[in-house]
Amino acid sequence: MYRKPEVPAVKSVLTIERLAWGGKGVARAEDGRLILLSAPLALFPGEQVETEIRWKPRHGEGDVKAWVRSDRRRAASGCPVARTCGGCDLWEGGRETSELKRSMVVDLFARALPDAPEWRWLEAPEDARRHRIQLHWTGRDLGFHRRGSHSLVPVTACPAATPALSAAIPRMKEALEARILPTRPQRWELVTGTPAGDVWAQDEGGRTWRLEPDGWHPAQGGVVHRLGEAVLAHRPGGFFQVCPPWAWQAFGEILRAWPLPGGTLFDLYGGVGFFTALLGSRFQRSVLVEFDGPAVEWARRNLEGTPTECVAADAAEWAPESLGVPGDLILLDPPRTGLDPAMCEKLHTAGADDLVLVGCDGAMFCRDVARLAPVWKLVDLAVVDLFPLTTHVECVGRFRKG
Ligand SMILES: C[S@@+](CC[C@H](N)C(=O)[O-])C[C@H]1O[C@@H](n2cnc3c(N)ncnc32)[C@H](O)[C@@H]1O
Repeated sequence: MYRKPEVPAVKSVLTIERLAWGGKGVARAEDGRLILLSAPLALFPGEQVETEIRWKPRHGEGDVKAWVRSDRRRAASGCPVARTCGGCDLWEGGRETSELKRSMVVDLFARALPDAPEWRWLEAPEDARRHRIQLHWTGRDLGFHRRGSHSLVPVTACPAATPALSAAIPRMKEALEARILPTRPQRWELVTGTPAGDVWAQDEGGRTWRLEPDGWHPAQGGVVHRLGEAVLAHRPGGFFQVCPPWAWQAFGEILRAWPLPGGTLFDLYGGVGFFTALLGSRFQRSVLVEFDGPAVEWARRNLEGTPTECVAADAAEWAPESLGVPGDLILLDPPRTGLDPAMCEKLHTAGADDLVLVGCDGAMFCRDVARLAPVWKLVDLAVVDLFPLTTHVECVGRFRKG
């Protein structure tokens, strides 16, 4: 069998010029060729790092082996597993994390959205913490997956999560060891409401337990979030915003500042009703479409008493050829993969003149802006640091027909 000859890695010291989308450091070889560098816990422009370059046909790649000169603003870790656990790629960015992330978005838009309107960046508040984490139990240890692998990093706390969730980790381990919770190796969802306090655990089989002062008890019911005037509940393993209070505040700020119409709100990929609850009072009526049946049941309960119709369906299949009329708003918040081509086709013939697209993967968002471009013009754009300490952001765009 023919084997491609291995290109030997070349040891080098390089200077980071800037950050690329995704958090890689961009450096250049002496001959000007581009090199992309990976490091756990953030890279700062200007830092000098030691690496071994692996050359590809058009560029080089390398992992940072050591820092020759590190930025003074780099924060001391403060988390014993930050370097190995895959949860917080920008942990050592410290106070500069927001600026580092903003610069990654600049890099993305320069390449993928060159005609973007001026955009607004919303920095996460310092106290934004995760209300949902995914833990793995091996039968002996409880923890997170190691960066880039499925092996385990045992943890006893998580400073990126709310204090209530973090404190529940050792209590969960005790209960697993005591066989109060099922002992088979599996993935667990740990989730808390808003304000953070009650803690729920769900196993892979969908069974749920609630943490009471005397330990874990099998429980039915939903995790409750009190956000402004709204009360939204969902099943413990179901989708909900990771930092709900911050998401509520950020989306509220963005969408209140935009001139939106007031006819029908089509809340597509609506989950348990987050956007209808946030915006619904500004519209005559709302239609929420979501394909996860149990989420739709929760949405019906959450939005009871409001003029909302909740439909369990695939959004693209449900959408008619001519969705809405002028004066209506189509709001789409699809999963990370973004809008599928069938949905884009339906949007090309929509009757509404206003559209808002929310995207939690910046690259997919840019692709979807291009897919919508034959009919929809991006007029307002905001980017939110909705997932602090990670390289992920939420993009929110307002479009007008024409
Ligand atoms: C990013 S979440 C947004 C949920 C909601 N807008 C919120 O903010 O809580 C995406 C949602 O789309 C749903 N979904 C995924 N694919 C879908 C499809 N083809 N049709 C309808 N809903 C879908 C998922 O179940 C999930 O609830």
